[in-house]
Amino acid sequence: MLAFIDTICLRCAVELGVPDAMHNHGGPMTLSELVQALSISTSRAPFLLRIMRVLVNSGFFSIKVNELEVLYNLTATSKLLITGSTNCLAPLVLLRTGLQSAMAGQAMSAWIKVSDENIETPFHVAYGGKGLFEFASERPQFNALFNKAMACDSRVFMGQVVKEWGDVLFGGLRSLVDVGGGTGGASVVISRAFPEMKCSVLDLAHVVDAQPKNDLVEFVKGDMFVHVPPADAVLLKWVLHDWSDEDCVKILRNCKESVSREANKQGKVIIIDTMLESNLNDFNTMRTQHLWDVYIMTMTFGKERNKMEWKAIFDEAGFSGFKIVCELGVHSVIEVYP
Ligand SMILES: C[S@@+](CC[C@H](N)C(=O)[O-])C[C@H]1O[C@@H](n2cnc3c(N)ncnc32)[C@H](O)[C@@H]1O
Repeated sequence: MLAFIDTICLRCAVELGVPDAMHNHGGPMTLSELVQALSISTSRAPFLLRIMRVLVNSGFFSIKVNELEVLYNLTATSKLLITGSTNCLAPLVLLRTGLQSAMAGQAMSAWIKVSDENIETPFHVAYGGKGLFEFASERPQFNALFNKAMACDSRVFMGQVVKEWGDVLFGGLRSLVDVGGGTGGASVVISRAFPEMKCSVLDLAHVVDAQPKNDLVEFVKGDMFVHVPPADAVLLKWVLHDWSDEDCVKILRNCKESVSREANKQGKVIIIDTMLESNLNDFNTMRTQHLWDVYIMTMTFGKERNKMEWKAIFDEAGFSGFKIVCELGVHSVIEVYP
């Protein structure tokens, strides 16, 4: 019932810039130092203290009490919220804890009850019949936050994937198209590690148009339901979980066509998404995957899938086989072969 209080305290800390203040301070700090660093009124200190207490309980900050004072510090988790660091996930927190996510969640029961199957997602119910991507195309501020959130996750996640499995996944490829690649967070990381490979990003016009020119990757405006440009490999990160099985099959067929060139011997589609039930012994991972699944249900047409569900859509799209290359946190990296 009160789990959302953790969420709003986290959002509040990110909006206030608490992780940045602690990082800039360079070590443990007292509440009054924090109040000063945040430039808020000292009269607000008792309220901040109560918020910090919750955030200490949820592991975002540590607390050390000595005889004279109480000192707060960053933890490994809040180090991921420092603005400007390469591992910063603050935009993702702001997106997932934002008004649009909350409104879609509030509309879930109305959506479940509705008999009109044209009302496709709770997000549509909450936002006058508009879907997530249509809504983003009309709201530059939300579009910017959405794209920033995707890019920061991709930067952090792909950084780790490239470090540990880069050669296996991308070695020898001459070209890669990142379908639904947003502002190129993943492609930029891959391109830096494999400069000889030509990387391009396919996304909708409102995403590509808001993107400054980038020397590392080429941006292509388009619709993955219509055409995917040819390449040795296609990357689909956090894309298929936004779509129904039928839509995934359509997208995958276009990807298969892209990587099935006659001269191309190593064509493959690389999918980064959740594989449900892959971590049944790890309660936290499994729980997070289930939370993601319902979050995705509120925002999009999609779902998280287990191995059998993935296999069914790969088979339907005409692929010959697949392999789970690695698992990292709640995500799996899957290679699918034409
Ligand atoms: C959840 S985001 C993932 C972004 C990126 N792959 C990442 O993980 O950082 C889904 C992306 O798919 C894009 N998208 C949605 N519909 C699309 C379509 N029909 N054609 C191409 N891209 C599309 C969205 O604009 C968005 O950038």
